[in-house]
Amino acid sequence: MRELSLHILDILQNSLEAGAQHLVLEINESSGANRLIIRVQDDGRGMDRQTLERVTDPFFTTRKTRQVGLGITLLKAAAERCNGALEIASKPGSGTTVTAAFQLDHIDRAPLGDIKSTILSVILANQQADLHYVHQVNGRRFEMDTAEIRSELGGVPLTEPRVRRWLEDYLQQGYNALYAVEDDKEPLTGD
Ligand SMILES: Nc1ncnc2c1ncn2[C@@H]1O[C@H](COP(=O)(O)OP(=O)(O)O)[C@@H](O)[C@H]1O
Ligand SMILES: [Mg+2]
Repeated sequence: MRELSLHILDILQNSLEAGAQHLVLEINESSGANRLIIRVQDDGRGMDRQTLERVTDPFFTTRKTRQVGLGITLLKAAAERCNGALEIASKPGSGTTVTAAFQLDHIDRAPLGDIKSTILSVILANQQADLHYVHQVNGRRFEMDTAEIRSELGGVPLTEPRVRRWLEDYLQQGYNALYAVEDDKEPLTGD
């Protein structure tokens, strides 16, 4: 896939399909460690050992609508291509954590892409589930927790047009703040 945000969307959708009510998405980029870590944690139904063992097999899926499950397999391949790895911790009844690690500056590493749209589509399409999003770039931190926002809104749905616009702006500002300093550092041409 061209963008890691599309892999993230797939992993978040797995969590929702597993009946999760609380999703945590962490993205951590560190130039110092030369690492990009993406982690999705959920409180869904979890996987038994047999499912867990087969989940990185491209021909395995428990869904009925499509024969071949590729979400996890593709993310694993992407991570491994970039000197990284994919790990899954899961237990029936106690949720799942999927962690993908990449070498940040690897030539094959896809850009993060449109993470804002991924987050928005997940939270607007799933009104029952909450998402806690924590994004760190070289120690800078942005986070958004729909559970907190929902309680502030006192019953106004996230899909209400003004709320939706506010969510978009908030995510955009967070993104700008995370990357602003990084971009300022670029034009060091030394002339
Ligand atoms: N977060 C999760 N919680 C429980 N089961 C999961 C989770 N993620 C993946 N699975 C299991 O792993 C299978 C493979 O997932 P995936 O590779 O994304 O393919 P697909 O979603 O198309 O089946 C799913 O069908 C499901 O049984
Ligand atoms: Mg999937």
